[in-house]
Amino acid sequence: MSIDQVPRSCGVALATRGLQVRYGAVQALHGVSIDIHAGKIVTVIGPNGAGKSTLLNAIMGLLPDNGMATGRIEHHGAEMGQDPVERRLGRGIALVPERRELFASMTVQDNLELGAYRRRDARKSRQQCLHEIFELFPRLQERRRQAAGTLSGGERQMLALGRALMSAPSVLLLDEPSLGLAPRVMADVFAIIARLRDTGVATLLVEQNSRAALKVADYGYVLELGSITLQGPAGALAADPQVVAAYLGASKAAVA
Ligand SMILES: Nc1ncnc2c1ncn2[C@@H]1O[C@H](COP(=O)(O)OP(=O)(O)OP(=O)(O)O)[C@@H](O)[C@H]1O
Ligand SMILES: [Mg+2]
Repeated sequence: MSIDQVPRSCGVALATRGLQVRYGAVQALHGVSIDIHAGKIVTVIGPNGAGKSTLLNAIMGLLPDNGMATGRIEHHGAEMGQDPVERRLGRGIALVPERRELFASMTVQDNLELGAYRRRDARKSRQQCLHEIFELFPRLQERRRQAAGTLSGGERQMLALGRALMSAPSVLLLDEPSLGLAPRVMADVFAIIARLRDTGVATLLVEQNSRAALKVADYGYVLELGSITLQGPAGALAADPQVVAAYLGASKAAVA
């Protein structure tokens, strides 16, 4: 495929600096600083409640009313932490949320076309974009006239990912893409995430399936109780005894 409108620069596409998030009295993030380069996959792994979704939602500007973020969020060096979500979308930030929010009664194709609504690149027709997404996800093409609400879990995940890609994002934020997927389908979804790297998109992959995430990622962070406790190249993290003990141990392997 050739989603070639994604910037191919190899600089830092997205960075957070000292990002803090509070939900009323609860502090969910305690000064998180991460970098994601264009054309790289960065994973954030960590247990339930660590603040992984909070991190993605803060970057997208989608915290709930009781959520408050401070610190810097930079897109290609420009501060965007105070921008409304529309402006972040316009910059090419796209989020596939933990609850795949699709329009259930609309068809697969209509859901995809809605994703192109904020497309940053006008050089390609909607038809061409759709063609590229169908090339990437043949299953969606087969089912393009089916109502999104009747798709299987894996198909729904593919549709949510395809819809985000229709906007030709420069930064792709993925919240637990493996959640609820059978191992075969999960492998397909991770293979697609890996292929997207070649388009130059900067991917931030949040996962509880640490084994699969560290396998596909270039770099990783461990987030625990709202703080980054470890970071490094994904291969080195996967070999780190602390990571192995907490996230990749024998019992974890069974579910990975
Ligand atoms: N709207 C909210 N109001 C109050 N507290 C919240 C809110 N949303 C999240 N939290 C709290 O913030 C912390 C981080 O939650 P978050 O959803 O970011 O974790 P997570 O790492 O994504 O967990 P999971 O792996 O279960 O998805 C948790 O303690 C959670 O209870
Ligand atoms: Mg979460």
